[in-house]
Amino acid sequence: MYKSIAIDGPSGAGKSTISKRLAKCINFEYLDTGAMYRAYTYYYLKNNIDIEDEKLIEKHIDDVKLSIVEGIFYIDDEDVSKQIRSKEVTQNVSLVSSYASVREKLVREQREISQKSNIVLDGRDIGSHVLPDASIKFYLDATAEERARRRYIQLNDDSLKMEDILADIIRRDNFDSSRKISPLVKAKDAILIDSTNLEIEQVIDLMIKYLGEYDVI
Ligand code: DC
Repeated sequence: MYKSIAIDGPSGAGKSTISKRLAKCINFEYLDTGAMYRAYTYYYLKNNIDIEDEKLIEKHIDDVKLSIVEGIFYIDDEDVSKQIRSKEVTQNVSLVSSYASVREKLVREQREISQKSNIVLDGRDIGSHVLPDASIKFYLDATAEERARRRYIQLNDDSLKMEDILADIIRRDNFDSSRKISPLVKAKDAILIDSTNLEIEQVIDLMIKYLGEYDVI
């Protein structure tokens, strides 16, 4: 049986950067589950399918032809890696990812993918719902202010204000944590890592220490 590492936490805690580097370091595959929800959101926005209409989203659920090849996300053979990071997608993905039909389909795919190799998955519900029997679970957190500061530096856009980024992070946290279906929660058996005062490399070192202790590597 393959090993799986679940990394959950709120937006901007550093999950994707850390998961990607960790996977490379220990020679595991990596799946960015947030990017899957983003790809669906992008498809609906692009095709003018009203994302406020849950029934309509469900009706069009199988229209989305998403494939992931070597970490690159394609819809109908179009590389959408850049588009799924747009402001518009970021503002609308929480709503799309709260719908049962979208979650059921993507959770099924995430489980299938995780059965094919040793893998790191990052998201919001990996340890609590997608892979309750993951080999190890981490919950990566940081204060909202620190997450906003990191995002501000990452976006590197003078027209953006730190207060707006912070407000958006808090809005997404609240939405993701309070939705009915598999909200963002720390699984009981997840190891909490607060990265507020840690560098990326320090978080990875700490995780690798735990992986050894849990016999994952
Ligand atoms: O990690 P991210 O910012 O790319 O995630 C985008 C959105 O997708 C986020 O607002 C919550 C949602 N998401 C989710 O509901 N479940 C996951 N496993 C991953 C992401």
